[in-house]
Amino acid sequence: MKRTPAAPLSVWRPLNLDHFLLGVPHYPEHIEEDLWKSDAERMAAAGFNVVRLGEFAWHLFEPREGVFDFALFDRAIEVLGAAGIQTIFCTPTATPPRWLTVAYPEVLRMDERDRVATHGSRQHADTNSAVYRRHSKRITEALATHYRDNPHVIGWQTDNELNTTVSTSYSEETQAAFRRYLEDRYATIDSLNFAWGGNFWATAYDSFEQITAPRAFNPGFASPGHVQDYHRFLADATAAFQHDQVEILRRTNPDWFIFHNLGRLEDIDFRGQFGQDLDFLGFDIYPMLYDEMRRTGGHPATQALHLDVCRAYSGNFIVPEQASGFGSQPGFSTMTPEPGEMRRMALSSVARGADGLLFFRWRPAHFGAEIYWMGIIDHDDLPRRRYREAMAFAQDIARIKDALKGTTVRMDVAIAGADFDNQEAYRTYPMGMPSPLEDGAILHRHCYENGVACGFIHPADDLSRVKLLYIPHWVMWKSEWDANIEAFVRNGGTLVVGAMTGTRDENNHIPRTLAPGPGLAALCGVRVEEFGRVAEPGADGLFGMPGPDFGLNTPAQRLPASSSQRRYRFTLGNSEYNAAHLYELLETDGDVEALGQWSNRFLGGRAAISRRRVGSGQAIYVGTYLTGALVEALAEHLFSDAGIEPLVPNLPANVEVSLREADGRKLLFLLNTDEARTELTDTPAGTDLLTGELVSRSLVLGPYGCSVIQLSE
Ligand code: GAL
Repeated sequence: MKRTPAAPLSVWRPLNLDHFLLGVPHYPEHIEEDLWKSDAERMAAAGFNVVRLGEFAWHLFEPREGVFDFALFDRAIEVLGAAGIQTIFCTPTATPPRWLTVAYPEVLRMDERDRVATHGSRQHADTNSAVYRRHSKRITEALATHYRDNPHVIGWQTDNELNTTVSTSYSEETQAAFRRYLEDRYATIDSLNFAWGGNFWATAYDSFEQITAPRAFNPGFASPGHVQDYHRFLADATAAFQHDQVEILRRTNPDWFIFHNLGRLEDIDFRGQFGQDLDFLGFDIYPMLYDEMRRTGGHPATQALHLDVCRAYSGNFIVPEQASGFGSQPGFSTMTPEPGEMRRMALSSVARGADGLLFFRWRPAHFGAEIYWMGIIDHDDLPRRRYREAMAFAQDIARIKDALKGTTVRMDVAIAGADFDNQEAYRTYPMGMPSPLEDGAILHRHCYENGVACGFIHPADDLSRVKLLYIPHWVMWKSEWDANIEAFVRNGGTLVVGAMTGTRDENNHIPRTLAPGPGLAALCGVRVEEFGRVAEPGADGLFGMPGPDFGLNTPAQRLPASSSQRRYRFTLGNSEYNAAHLYELLETDGDVEALGQWSNRFLGGRAAISRRRVGSGQAIYVGTYLTGALVEALAEHLFSDAGIEPLVPNLPANVEVSLREADGRKLLFLLNTDEARTELTDTPAGTDLLTGELVSRSLVLGPYGCSVIQLSE
């Protein structure tokens, strides 16, 4: 395996490995040794080249403190290696052994209600704990040294889905670490009191020693500055925990690649040190977990959304775990991919930037908290449809891998993403409004359904390939991004800024100038003079609020939607639309046109959506939140002027499209996400790399059928 140095973080970054990693997470410790050889041979026959091992096996590597035993994994790696299957090893720190939690109970996490985590599941140890960090370094050092010269071990995954089960901790040790973090950040207690607004509700402190971690509703709302810094601290501590391991692995064998597998994206700043320490990110994708969530539009759209969000952090990625079959833990179960769908889901991941993919998992477990989580082969040791589909996917990869190398995912429409501070700032003070991601997802969904190349990008990233950039009400807009955004607009880009953007500074204070802050106000020619809530049917600010219900939030006490509820409406073109969540009253400069106008009540006649032409581009400000109808209208008014066309015209419903490109090479992925056969009538000309056939205009996709067309010009 050849690995080149990782380029700086960017959504446009290709992977730095020379071949596509393809295989399964595997747990030889779960199965009798006499089955290992046939497992390895069947993996090789399927076309796999790698397994991921060891993430939950610390108790086997170190059965007693300081006593190491790698024999079981040495044998497993050897058997796999003999069949041509290489190994990605994991640091096993998601599951410290029982002897460790007995001898060092202080490493256990403590939850918000001061309950100490019990031994018996996973992620019970506190990655903020200095004592736990010492053990994490010990086991990493021991494993790294042992496998340094093993030719079959090619790279490492740190831990497993850090912070996915739980990210917070309230133990004394963690709170002491929080205080040290604050002292480093602020140096004096006066600076901290200023940042957190100590004169509000007497929240000022005399010294750092007095500070505790914020707790939700205990009894009321904590200061946004306090909450934001607690989450900054958790992200900092998570990065430091991983950094310990990365430092050891890099020092031991600089040829190894290192990644982490993302789970729930809690309290990790991927564009910070955490992501900079890695060669690339891994994203575990379980689309069927989201099937029941109406707002997400079903699992194909959700998978695309999640992978596009992930790509914004650091570019192409691998999928270390891709759902293969029915999945469950004791409290839930997922839908099951239908025949052909597992392969389609895997190709969807590739279409959106995966340059490696491991199907979760080789074998299902016969014991433990995931006994019904299916693998590639079944409990009776027989390979059935999932094995055949994995093999078909491996053949697909063999056919496309050369053309795929070095390509990145096309993105004409981009949504601002990947910013830790903005994600957290929203959560410190949500007010019952949608999050930036929920708002941006409405635009993403429109693009997904209409075949427009769309994704997420950080505003400090290279914007030159993007045609339209939407900023979904990022309250903590930073002036250091202004120049990049202005250049984007001057060079022909269309910028669309959503309501509430730039309403706070880094301390979560409201500045003394009007939103959206000096840079964006000048670029858009707009200042927000007033804002107010828009009543949604059946909800208002209090009812929409997360957290305790104050005894009010019961169906019987909900107010019925009535005609007296205020709706604010605006026109755009010849149609009228309802504002969503919030209205804003805009003060506009002389060179600003009102693209949309408020049309009723006291707002009537004022600009609702403004446009300023700047250089060869335009800066648009939208004084409300997105709805599906508003997105459609914006697309109609802005897309073709901005040079945005669907990748394929007249795309049938349920067909997903994405383009990967580099140096004039263009690979068009067309994936049928449904069981009904479908026909495209306007496919661009090229060669379907999966079948070798020439394609032009008409293309039939069978149930969950897939094509990867290398376009002719
Ligand atoms: C992932 C996790 C795996 C396994 C899988 C299926 O989130 O990393 O260890 O639990 O889900 O539940």
